[in-house]
Amino acid sequence: VNRAEPPLAGLRFVLVGPGRVGESLATWAIARGASCVAVAGRAGSAGAREAAARLGAPLASAADYDAGPAHLALIAVPDAAIADVARRLAGRFHGVALHVSGALGASALSPLAAAGCAVGSFHPLRPFPDVELDPEAARGTFFALDGDPQARALGRRLAEAFGGEAGVVPEEVRVLYHLAATLAAGGVATVFATAASLAKRAGVPEGARRGYARLARGALEAVAAAAEPAEAITGPAARGDLETVERQLEALAAAAPELRSLVVALARAALDRRAEAQPPTPAQKALAERLARPELLDRPRDRVLTFKSPE
Ligand SMILES: NC(=O)c1ccc[n+]([C@@H]2O[C@H](COP(=O)([O-])OP(=O)(O)OC[C@H]3O[C@@H](n4cnc5c(N)ncnc54)[C@H](OP(=O)(O)O)[C@@H]3O)[C@@H](O)[C@H]2O)c1
Repeated sequence: VNRAEPPLAGLRFVLVGPGRVGESLATWAIARGASCVAVAGRAGSAGAREAAARLGAPLASAADYDAGPAHLALIAVPDAAIADVARRLAGRFHGVALHVSGALGASALSPLAAAGCAVGSFHPLRPFPDVELDPEAARGTFFALDGDPQARALGRRLAEAFGGEAGVVPEEVRVLYHLAATLAAGGVATVFATAASLAKRAGVPEGARRGYARLARGALEAVAAAAEPAEAITGPAARGDLETVERQLEALAAAAPELRSLVVALARAALDRRAEAQPPTPAQKALAERLARPELLDRPRDRVLTFKSPE
């Protein structure tokens, strides 16, 4: 029986920007049979020198890169440096160039495209707080592809070799694709930090933080696992519990009025998501109508108090 060749056998690549993402992807590619023919970093970078040694490849400078023929230039420099790197490599690299940014499309590499390279993007939709050396950790990763057919085909080949999944996210969708990632990560984290801050200001004991964390994890796991995330949203707003939402906003007006717009926006979003998934109940409809005019949520008592203290 002929032992199957590793899926990336024969692929020669140069890594430009051996940071967290670059060294991770390069390590995974080598584990799948590819050869790293050069590592290019900024001149004098100790990090690049060490990464090149770990990857077993000669160190080049991105400023005067000339590592001989390679099929792929994997460009994993910070977003702001991509265009400059593309200008420097143009004319000196002839193959497929892929950058790994989520926010930018293939056009970030236009100097290389103008010089005849197939260009594209290959964005791993996962965090890299550090270099991830275990190729098995790549499994299940979604890679957003974009660019020339040849670039997308190579991106697909890499994703498959890593045990991940590839999908095309074209340039014009890129900003919203990236915004969705921002909401899923920083947005969720911001809501959690806001919940913790509100509880602290209200005098809730510190120990409750672990309880909030447990709630957050449970809720996130439920929406992430659900076929229709909206149906897994819990809480008074999603249920259409007007009475509770009114009481909460009343307490908020006294304790942290600056959070009102966020809380109202989240309650509306919960109802909107539910309504996309299934027709709203009468209670959800009633709450949605109230939230559409948040000034009606101020209880008469508050208004009387406001009028009585004119200062
Ligand atoms: N981190 C994540 O979670 C994550 C996830 C998905 C995608 N991305 C994307 O991955 C790309 C790289 O991000 P990262 O987090 O891996 O950054 P990083 O860890 O800071 O690595 C960037 C690398 O690029 C090198 N570099 C910087 N400027 C350069 C230049 N002008 N020429 C050549 N090399 C240069 C740096 O080396 P020296 O500083 O030593 O010179 C470093 O090796 C970005 O496009 C980012 O959007 C990041």
